[in-house]
Amino acid sequence: MAQEVRGVIAPGKDAPVRVETIVVPDPGPGEAVVRVQACGVCHTDLHYKQGGITDDFPFLLGHEAAGVVESVGEGVTEVAPGDFVVLNWRAVCGQCRACLRGRPWYCFDTHNAKQKMTLTDGTELSPALGIGAFAEKTLVAAGQCTKVDPAVSPAVAGLLGCGVMAGIGAAINTGGVGRGDSVAVIGCGGVGDAAIAGSNLAGAAKIIAVDIDGRKLDRARALGATHTVNSKDTDPVEAIRELTGGFGADVVIEAVGRPETYRQAFYARDLAGTVVLVGVPTPEMKLELPLLDVFGRGGALKSSWYGDCLPSRDFPMLIDLHLQGRLPLDAFVTETVQLDEVEKAFERMHGGDVLRSVVVL
Ligand code: APR
Ligand code: ZN
Ligand code: ZN
Repeated sequence: MAQEVRGVIAPGKDAPVRVETIVVPDPGPGEAVVRVQACGVCHTDLHYKQGGITDDFPFLLGHEAAGVVESVGEGVTEVAPGDFVVLNWRAVCGQCRACLRGRPWYCFDTHNAKQKMTLTDGTELSPALGIGAFAEKTLVAAGQCTKVDPAVSPAVAGLLGCGVMAGIGAAINTGGVGRGDSVAVIGCGGVGDAAIAGSNLAGAAKIIAVDIDGRKLDRARALGATHTVNSKDTDPVEAIRELTGGFGADVVIEAVGRPETYRQAFYARDLAGTVVLVGVPTPEMKLELPLLDVFGRGGALKSSWYGDCLPSRDFPMLIDLHLQGRLPLDAFVTETVQLDEVEKAFERMHGGDVLRSVVVL
């Protein structure tokens, strides 16, 4: 039996979001219905609402979520009713060239639920990132559910579904940060702060946080930054070099997504160092670099997509580390809010005080 529950809908370009009754079908083959317990408010949800991602309104927003599997469809073996799970954007196929080569994070054939959730008048909803979890219940592909230790708070667990995983993964998976490394992180929002926490977890000796907002730097320090640079009044490239004995950092993580900060990252790395781009640029952004500077420095210029994560490997591991007191994931939850407060949470995003507002249900 399809069920009616409450969900947060973005009805049209730039229109305020509102809570409406949505219809969640029974799970079909390979699908699961999840009773959502918590879902973080991410910039990507705001971009959906603004029409910056696609025009497929109405959207069912929310994608950084954790909850309990309520029911599963035919052939589902990954999870069972009662399992506590974190949702991920895409279930990997296990069959394509990327999956078979052991790099499922580049899977060509990721999938979401086939059936559609709808409004009560039958209008089909587009779930944000194939999830749609600002709702009491949501329908996903079973492979989008990753079982984790239920001892963790759902508000904390859900954040691994997107921005926090992107940052931790940029450091650990893409950047390959290891014990004794020097790391610089440019941009200390949720993603940059997670890269700092990830670098700390990986044993980096020096973690240099760079931001133009002093308040961000205080928080970065609390998450493990050993040095901070306010790039509003200091040249960050000079400062990073000075803090690393004149060499530059082994790994520089760009978590803003702008040409000027990418340029800073490029020049702030050590010879043969690694630059990781995790900030998302807009389509018109371009960067010109002397090719000789690329040639002359060696190393690696990488981008990190969803932290190059493998949910089945990374989600349970990071939650276990958190439960052991070794990864302060709770620091990313600034406030908890109700379903009908998402619009207000979007407004607070611009203030700079909120790392993550998390809707709890
Ligand atoms: N130099 C340094 N820091 C900057 C600069 C700059 N020129 N411009 C902005 N910042 C800082 C902001 O002060 C803020 O602390 O970058 C941070 C960006 O943080 P958020 O807006 O909270 O964004 P976040 O969620 O961390 O995502 C960062 O990664 O996944 C992508 O789409 C996401 O592009 C975005 C980036
Ligand atoms: Zn695949
Ligand atoms: Zn997100």
